[in-house]
Amino acid sequence: MKKLIAGNWKMNGSLAANEALLTAVAAGMPAQPVCAVAVCVPSPYLAQFQALALSVRGLSAIDLGAQDVSAKASGAYTGEVSAAMLKDFGCRYVIVGHSERRQYHAETDALVAEKAQQALAAGITPIVCVGETLAEREAGQTENIVKRQLAAVIHTNGHCISEIVVAYEPVWAIGTGKTATPEEAQAVHAVLRAQLKAATDHADRVKILYGGSMNAANAASLLGQPDIDGGLIGGASLKANDFLTIIAAAAV
Ligand code: PGA
Repeated sequence: MKKLIAGNWKMNGSLAANEALLTAVAAGMPAQPVCAVAVCVPSPYLAQFQALALSVRGLSAIDLGAQDVSAKASGAYTGEVSAAMLKDFGCRYVIVGHSERRQYHAETDALVAEKAQQALAAGITPIVCVGETLAEREAGQTENIVKRQLAAVIHTNGHCISEIVVAYEPVWAIGTGKTATPEEAQAVHAVLRAQLKAATDHADRVKILYGGSMNAANAASLLGQPDIDGGLIGGASLKANDFLTIIAAAAV
């Protein structure tokens, strides 16, 4: 399966910084596509990406993603952005259930499942994030936690589950410089793959990304694991050279 390298810019960027970053990444993209590449930008910059994709050489090889979507289709939900709006701006992906949303915005498994449903209904691929905290890992709860989080999305989305992307992001590894070892990550990915297999005949085409301090130095060993189908990259996606090195590592 072709791997997916998705950048998650989080709440970083400016018109000037984004243009410089995207121009540098586009210029360094491999001539032949070796993996799928996407960047998930803050919503105000979706239009900027769309416009730049028309003029910056090579940028059309990169797909656009958003970082969150409303669980509602439309209406009186001040501050929310709907899946249809994201589609209007050419989004191919949207991250749902990132641990920062679960932690700072009290997003529940059920809400995350509804967000995934909205995305799928609009023809956008949800990148569903799951992952345990350090306390949960130390309590031996990793498997239970990620299975519970994914089960909610499977329950709500039924046979559409083969259309999602999953991202395993151990909370203790996000932005900390502490990465799960390739073996630790693979063990959880195998659990998630088995859970998907029980839910759909097409589990083998569901990409399961690893995220959490993936960088230019550790990407190749993580991406070499049998059930790691790509990466969700935070900090390193803000540096063109690091992001390009990770993209190159996904080719092998
Ligand atoms: P990080 O973030 O690569 O900076 O650890 C990953 C993420 O939160 O998606």
